[in-house]
Amino acid sequence: MKIFIENTYDQMSRKVCDNIISYIKNKPKSLICLAGGDTPLKTFEYLIQANLNDEVDFSQTTFVSLDEWVGLGKETKGSCIYTLYKNLYEKLNIDLEKQVHFFDGLSKDLKNECKKINHLIEKFDGLDISLLGIGLNGHLGFNEPNVDENIDCGIIELDNTTKTVGQKYFDTNLDLKYGITIGLKHLLNSKRLILIANGEKKAEIVEKTLYGEISNNVPSSLARKKPNFFIYLDRLASKNIINKNNI
Ligand code: PGA
Repeated sequence: MKIFIENTYDQMSRKVCDNIISYIKNKPKSLICLAGGDTPLKTFEYLIQANLNDEVDFSQTTFVSLDEWVGLGKETKGSCIYTLYKNLYEKLNIDLEKQVHFFDGLSKDLKNECKKINHLIEKFDGLDISLLGIGLNGHLGFNEPNVDENIDCGIIELDNTTKTVGQKYFDTNLDLKYGITIGLKHLLNSKRLILIANGEKKAEIVEKTLYGEISNNVPSSLARKKPNFFIYLDRLASKNIINKNNI
């Protein structure tokens, strides 16, 4: 596990971008899993800039979206796929048809959506990089507290915290009940697992993630079982851990 603390969200995002670039330079044909929340947005800006400046070539890279709200698709502003397309994929020099994969939250056959993404991940022999925000309840994707660690991809009933916090992404109040997500089995087996958190509101869950009991009650704490786990924080999110272990 490596913990990186930067002064600002901006600096943190630049460092995360550098981490991803170095991985892709080494292995251009990677499969990258990206989250569609607020935390990665600045990292995406840096990745777009780096791609424009030819600092990184994504032409051989495959992207898979971490999760989706069941019942939502690309048309809904705030859905995961909308966020990722508008803030990243459409601005990269990539073939959207061939290089981008995602769960269709509107599908009538969600199990088949799981199969589709599972198959993709298996074809690549696992995810290379997973870049994930941390939910206020410690969820990773829609792997909510007490989720089964052995799920590869799944449809999961949302925790009350997620239902409430999730409203921030949307213009109107939505009845959010289920999420479809890459499961912990794949995420924790990523060749590089990167968690990111910024802002004071994340300080408590960051502390639990890094110093609480390792338990599926706080899914993000399970990352500590993995040696190739990187966590990037800004100063505010690291507030509760700054005096621990000489950080
Ligand atoms: P956020 O979401 O990046 O919008 O804070 C993180 C999460 O809930 O997984």
